[in-house]
This record gives sequence, C-alpha cells and structure tokens, in this order.
Amino acid sequence: MSPKSVIIITMTTKNQIYRCPICGNIVEVIHAGGGELVCCGQPMELLQSKTEDTGFEKHLPVIAKSENQVTVKIGSIPHPMEEAHYIELIEIIADDKVYKKFLKPGDTSEAVFEISADNITARAYCNVHGLWQTK
Ligand SMILES: [Fe+2]
Repeated sequence: MSPKSVIIITMTTKNQIYRCPICGNIVEVIHAGGGELVCCGQPMELLQSKTEDTGFEKHLPVIAKSENQVTVKIGSIPHPMEEAHYIELIEIIADDKVYKKFLKPGDTSEAVFEISADNITARAYCNVHGLWQTK
C-alpha cells in the first residue's frame, strides 16, 4: 500500500498581490486561475492588506473625492519617500476598475486620479511595511 499524499491547492483571486520571498518579485492577479503562483522554485506569499495603523509612520490611504477627481494620500501624516523606505504603489479599485500610480523616492506620497466613482477601495504598498488598504 502506498502512503497517501496531501495535495494543497491554493486558489488565486482577482486583485490579490503576491510577493516572492527570495527575489522580491511582486505580482497582481488580473485573472484568477487554478494554479499556485511560484517564483524562484517556491510558492509566492500572498500579501495580506493591513487596515489598522499601529506604528509611528502612517500607511492607511486617506481618500478625498471631488466631482471628477479622487486624491489618495498615504497616510494621515505623509509617509517617508526615501531611497530605503517609500510607497511604491498607490492603487484604487473603483466600481470594478483598477487605477494605479507607481511612485519613486522623492515623490509625494499621494496620487490623483481623474475619475468619478462612488465605491472606492484604496491600497498602498510600502517597500518596508507591506500592503495597506482602506476598510
Ligand atoms: Fe512604511
């Protein structure tokens, strides 16, 4: 009799963000399939969005809407934008559409999107502290 093996299938979901713990590749799912995401020979790690600020630096996106514009600031106190520690991405998911702004050190930790939408979720990725999201 052969030993039973356990197969764990990890399903992806649209808009999930995964990171390779070895090389640092980060990918976002735009279409969910049935397979496991693998990089450098290992499963990629699903980044879980944090929704509560706890440390000195603030990471939660702050959304301000006007008629045709959405401004997202990270966070309630501007996040550092230094070479070693900065916000790499601000993203909003609005009515099933996704808008992104990639940032670099020296930029301001905010993004302006010329859109009008009611249901908005904002996310930010800090290269040190990971993924953050409005509730
Ligand atoms: Fe940070």
